[in-house]
Amino acid sequence: MRIGILNSGGDCPGLNAVIHGVVGAAAAMGGEAVGFYDGFEGLLDPENGHVFLTPRETEGILKLGGTILGTTNKGNFAAKIGEGDVSAVPQDIVDRAKATLDGLKIDGLVVVGGDGSLTTAQQLFEQGWPIIGVPKTIDNDLQATAMTFGFDSAVNCVVDGLDRLHTTGASHKRVMVLEVMGRHAGWIALWGGMAGAANVILLPEIPFSYEKVADHIKAREEEGYSSSLVVVAEGALSPDGILATIDENTGGEVRLGGMGEQVAAGIAKLTGKETRCTTLGHVQRGGAPTSLDRILGVRFGVMATQLAAEGKFGQMVSYQSYHVSSVSIKEAVTKLRLVEPTSEVVTAARAIGVCFGD
Ligand code: F6P
Repeated sequence: MRIGILNSGGDCPGLNAVIHGVVGAAAAMGGEAVGFYDGFEGLLDPENGHVFLTPRETEGILKLGGTILGTTNKGNFAAKIGEGDVSAVPQDIVDRAKATLDGLKIDGLVVVGGDGSLTTAQQLFEQGWPIIGVPKTIDNDLQATAMTFGFDSAVNCVVDGLDRLHTTGASHKRVMVLEVMGRHAGWIALWGGMAGAANVILLPEIPFSYEKVADHIKAREEEGYSSSLVVVAEGALSPDGILATIDENTGGEVRLGGMGEQVAAGIAKLTGKETRCTTLGHVQRGGAPTSLDRILGVRFGVMATQLAAEGKFGQMVSYQSYHVSSVSIKEAVTKLRLVEPTSEVVTAARAIGVCFGD
């Protein structure tokens, strides 16, 4: 048995843990693992686009952030550019890549990716490729899995940032705004904000008004709290329904950024309080994975290898109720998993006084 593995889309902590799991499980079954460089792109270079991986070569990678294989969130295989915007990967590209796969006698290809990359994977599966999906994204917005690895590491990064902003904000009696990642879903802002004791959390899923946010901060002031912490997801819409974007043609999805600064300016104007904004950015995607992300990554890698060995192609590894199982990739990519505004976790946050600006 020869199992291929590639990482596609934005990176996140725990990708190397999945590679560690696949390589270890394949070797334990008497098989081999082949890693493809830079996502699907490695399949277009039959000579130098791949590497044979054994447990000896992957020794020590479990704790490393990033991915030893490299990745890309643009290029020849991008099937999903915007939200719900799906295009077909050109057939000549598919055929060239398939020739590499066949030439290397790959029995199963493990694609570790988010919504966009798994949409590509589903297209290839429908053309007969032996694909197994592994869900990956710090945004944690994939349907059909309760959690993706990388999310916990990103949340820990947000909490560390908030803890630091809390002390400096208190010293200067300021409002401290932290912009975090979360393109369509506000899971990072919600979990990070709750664990980091934020007073205001603004999400893509809950429309907010500056007046409500300012009233909350002023009410806190009257109660004697002279500083406040505000977390803003990058994908939170302005009150007039506009996304904050960076005007740059990346050849992939539109780049988000700037909502934190807008919110900080709005708060300063309405409260008269000194306000500072920090944009956490890609530090959320880098660094060593937490123990949870390491364990999830390894379990996902092992399960993906088992599914490949059993010929259960078109399946994506899924985490539900503390258990790793699988669902069809198609089911997983048709809908994003968003924060439900009336869910128990949002209600719990409201119960302890968190303002969502609504
Ligand atoms: O999709 C994951 C994500 O982290 C988003 O939250 C963010 O908008 C995007 O990746 C950033 O991607 P890039 O690496 O292209 O800047």
